[in-house]
Amino acid sequence: MPLVTTTEMFKKAYAGGYAIGAFNVNNMETIQAIVEAADECRSPVILQVSAGARKYANPVFLRHLVQAAVETTDIPIAMHLDHGADFEICKSCIEVGFTSVMIDASSKPWEENIALTKKVVEYAHDHGVVVEAELGKLAGIEDDVKVEARDAQFTSPDEVQEFTERTECDSLAIAIGTSHGAYKFKPGQDPRLRIDILEEIGKRLPGFPIVLHGASSVPQDQVAVVNEFGGSMPNAIGIPESELRKAAKLAVCKINIDSDLRVAFTAAIRRHFAENPSHFDPRQYLTDARANMKQLVKHKIVDVLGSANRA
Ligand code: G3H
Ligand code: 13P
Ligand code: ZN
Repeated sequence: MPLVTTTEMFKKAYAGGYAIGAFNVNNMETIQAIVEAADECRSPVILQVSAGARKYANPVFLRHLVQAAVETTDIPIAMHLDHGADFEICKSCIEVGFTSVMIDASSKPWEENIALTKKVVEYAHDHGVVVEAELGKLAGIEDDVKVEARDAQFTSPDEVQEFTERTECDSLAIAIGTSHGAYKFKPGQDPRLRIDILEEIGKRLPGFPIVLHGASSVPQDQVAVVNEFGGSMPNAIGIPESELRKAAKLAVCKINIDSDLRVAFTAAIRRHFAENPSHFDPRQYLTDARANMKQLVKHKIVDVLGSANRA
């Protein structure tokens, strides 16, 4: 099956009360780990490429690695640009063969966000590609701000209808308490999501697919391995998986996971070297890293996203 857009995936996910995992990819091993896991779980999957990934690996290399993955499985796979910063980046990824792009103009004023998103939507739709937009600002751990100030960053349900109608975007990333990275909350902070805002947005946009960025859970067993074998990740805290399950049953159709993959990959490599200090063949430790990442992706698909057996 060739690469697909997210249209069908999201329609089924919305109706079925589950979400599709959007996993960040940077090299062959991560692509293999994610696609093998999705294939064994018979789950659709989104492989997404960030600015950092483009710089590290070159989008053309990633496009061809994804193509190799597509040729080894029959599950639906979409290739998505993560956090596209401007029109040109979106256009160049569409030219390379991505089937979905995100235009992230969420830091811009309202009218500018709408104008830029609309411009990308027009170009993308002309080329059979779908567009994710963003409204609201993701919280950051550094935000030692008062509760009212943090609330002001959440997506306002009052704005979503006008935004999606005027831009004609295909999905919308919202801010309801997630944030990027492995340090999302400080010890003692309440790690819950604003499910009430999500429910309200769902009412304002019936059937419309919502996206959650910054949705890693930072599994403590993996962090413990990193810390045991020479690493240092003090107080790494993520989104509880129970919160993500609630969101997946509601309007959230796409859940972005990157940090968890990184932690799993690194934990396995740290363990490998601690147990095999004489090894220097990258295939030896990358085999462990890939296997550990694959196991984590399977867990996400089965226990968090609910997308197993939906391919
Ligand atoms: O949303 C951000 C992703 O985790 C990608 O981060 O640009 O460092 O690859 P990156
Ligand atoms: P995490 O850092 O929580 O994995 O989020 C990844 C993400 O949102 C990519 O766009
Ligand atoms: Zn993100």
